[in-house]
Amino acid sequence: MTASPLDNLSAQTDELLATVAAFDSLEQLVEGEPFVTGKRSILSALQKSLGQLAPEDRKDAGALLQEARRRVEAAFDERRATLTSAARAQALEADRLDLGDVVVAQVRAPYTAGHPGIVAATQRQLEDVFIGMGFTVADGPEVESDWYNFEALNIPPAHPSRGMWDTFYVDLGEPETVVLRTHTSPTQIHLMEAAVQSGTLPIHSVMPGRCYRRDTPDARHLAAFHQIEGLVVDRGITFADLAGVIDTFTRAYFGADIQSRLRPAFFPFTEPSAEFEITCTLCRGEGCRTCSQTGWIELGGCGMLDPAVLEAVGIDGDEWSGFAFGFGIDRCAQMRHQIADMRALIENDVRFLRQFS
Ligand code: DAH
Repeated sequence: MTASPLDNLSAQTDELLATVAAFDSLEQLVEGEPFVTGKRSILSALQKSLGQLAPEDRKDAGALLQEARRRVEAAFDERRATLTSAARAQALEADRLDLGDVVVAQVRAPYTAGHPGIVAATQRQLEDVFIGMGFTVADGPEVESDWYNFEALNIPPAHPSRGMWDTFYVDLGEPETVVLRTHTSPTQIHLMEAAVQSGTLPIHSVMPGRCYRRDTPDARHLAAFHQIEGLVVDRGITFADLAGVIDTFTRAYFGADIQSRLRPAFFPFTEPSAEFEITCTLCRGEGCRTCSQTGWIELGGCGMLDPAVLEAVGIDGDEWSGFAFGFGIDRCAQMRHQIADMRALIENDVRFLRQFS
């Protein structure tokens, strides 16, 4: 038998298969391709050498070579598939780590989600103080009829005391009959009416909310502001109960070093009435621009319910008595946080707002 160029085909094929199996990366695979299946492969050289064979031997030799090539190419394709999916998994893993980095970076960066504004936060704190003292919290409308905002509170039409509240009128119904409430006191009327109707006296409630006055804003006033109203209707209530509630509230909210005082005053819906003041927290009573050099800041008013108000809502003044108070929520925020000028509350300067997050 004459020597054939394919005498070593089996060993050569095994060698090619080992080379393919040793490819470790797609780069190696691409670089190696010409040497295992391509033009520079031993298989291509053998293909050319078949011409040397006797014509009757060529067919079998060709089939053998074909089979060897098929095995090597199959192994090559399989290796490529394995390396491709490994590379893909690696890329995904790398992406997943990137994603992790992004999440970590977000948590570390200053987080820019919003937070309750200082007035809203103050309202909640005030509600909490009063809830702790046994009060419930109620709500009332911001647009009121003249009757709720004034008349039922013993402020007849054209009465001089109306000058205490510069009023925004709403263009509804008869002229000057619908108003933006100038104080939270009309909510007292709603509450008493509801309690009379449902037979649920006594009342111990606070009523926070927004109010409006045709005032020029200054260091202590805004045209749209917030009050919290308090109302107690029960049996045997005296002025001492009112003074005790005001004093307890002041200590609980501002701290023991802030004094409160009641000064005789006039409100049409209470008799007797008082103004409720606290030590100016900016100057600690020394006198400053914010407190107009008095050392005191007026928070609001209070007093014993006037019999005319009880009568307006149909409560028997012989059986029931009570007190009411109303004071500024914005003013509380101003005093608690020592904000010299209240207009800062509505200027939306983020450098100011961020201090209260
Ligand atoms: N409503 C009054 C105001 O806005 C404050 C006030 C005074 C409320 C006396 C009361 C009260 O409930 O009894 O000026």
